[in-house]
Amino acid sequence: MPASAAGAVRGRFAQTLAIARRAWYNEEKRPQGRAACVRGGPRFPLPPARACWGLYLKLLVTGGAGFIGSNFLFYMREKHPQTELVCLDKLTYAGDAETLAPFCGAPGFAFVRADVADGAALDAALEEHRPDAVVHFAAESHVDRSIADPSVFVRTNTAGTQALLEACRRHGVERFHHVSTDEVYGDLDGTEERSAEDAPLRPSSPYAASKAGADLLCAAYARTYGMFVTVSRSSNNYGPYQFPEKLIPRMVVSALRGEPLPVYGDGLQVRDWLHVRDHCAAVDRILRAGRAGRVYNVSAHCERRNIDVVRLILEELGLPLSRIRHVADRPGHDRRYAADASRLREELGWEPETAFAAGLRAAVRWYLAHRPWWEHILSGEYQSAYARLFAPGR
Ligand SMILES: NC(=O)c1ccc[n+]([C@@H]2O[C@H](COP(=O)([O-])OP(=O)(O)OC[C@H]3O[C@@H](n4cnc5c(N)ncnc54)[C@H](O)[C@@H]3O)[C@@H](O)[C@H]2O)c1
Repeated sequence: MPASAAGAVRGRFAQTLAIARRAWYNEEKRPQGRAACVRGGPRFPLPPARACWGLYLKLLVTGGAGFIGSNFLFYMREKHPQTELVCLDKLTYAGDAETLAPFCGAPGFAFVRADVADGAALDAALEEHRPDAVVHFAAESHVDRSIADPSVFVRTNTAGTQALLEACRRHGVERFHHVSTDEVYGDLDGTEERSAEDAPLRPSSPYAASKAGADLLCAAYARTYGMFVTVSRSSNNYGPYQFPEKLIPRMVVSALRGEPLPVYGDGLQVRDWLHVRDHCAAVDRILRAGRAGRVYNVSAHCERRNIDVVRLILEELGLPLSRIRHVADRPGHDRRYAADASRLREELGWEPETAFAAGLRAAVRWYLAHRPWWEHILSGEYQSAYARLFAPGR
């Protein structure tokens, strides 16, 4: 083929690719299926396998072996099976490669074991996989651990986010979504208010401060370098695969092991609960339709006192309230968080689908039915799963 004809074909191919990517981001307008390539797609010859709308998007998901990241990978595989997924995770104590066993050997899935604070490793991963978008869940996420040792939180959550932003900038990644928390707004004790996205950041714990630092770096990269960055600030999540150090799985596991249920202080701290699947749907929506440089709160506006959540768990398990044991409160413990998700609802049409009572019941039943999952976490055995499932040359 003469060079000019080859150039024209390449140009058309690139044009098809660009249209398909735009269509992925704007799913509502995307024709479905292979026939759509002919009906609704461009009118020139298409390479057979990858030409259909939506096939081109490749997402790199950091922290995909953790609670929300793994739920997000499952959600994406179910909702958008043609999207290629790359999970980048360091596999800290909170990352369980075993959770991702269903992806082992699956086409369109890759696992990279790397630290988000390691620029060279990020360069290698981005060079090899060339994702269209990065969704950044990886973090140290447990407040108590941040009180015991803040330094790893600053390294992973703040410096790690900066390293990832910088690597994405160098490699021209089209979109960067950062997953943050409503804890950056700090304590709303004594008010009825909900924090909107422009509320001041007043983090209380080292965890929340390290996340707030990351949020500000995202804003700086969007403004200074014109990167397409979005941020979501979610309220407390619950659901399957949550590490059993967090309130709901911890209480269920303690109850099932016949131990007392340890409740901090008077237990009257108010948290705003969101089912993890609703969070995943929100991130998906923001990734497709969110505006550059924008922050979106994610909340089902579902406030519950910790003590009431623990009572509901005991009720669901048919156990007496006498199992509750009040223990010394966490230093600096915020009394109330509540984020206002009107922007996400009004701009992007997101609505949570899971009512708290039903979602909590389902979560409790999931931990009951998946005893081997949390038993192998508690035993530490899960830390060998990577070598078995995803290590190169396994
Ligand atoms: N869990 C919640 O209720 C909640 C609420 C709001 C926001 N968030 C945010 O959502 C994100 C995910 O939270 P989660 O509860 O799933 O956390 P998690 O602790 O369950 O999982 C974190 C994951 O990140 C990985 N990771 C940690 N350090 C890393 C590093 N340096 N490099 C690469 N990978 C690393 C871990 O191995 C793990 O797989 C976090 O950014 C958190 O701040 C969580």
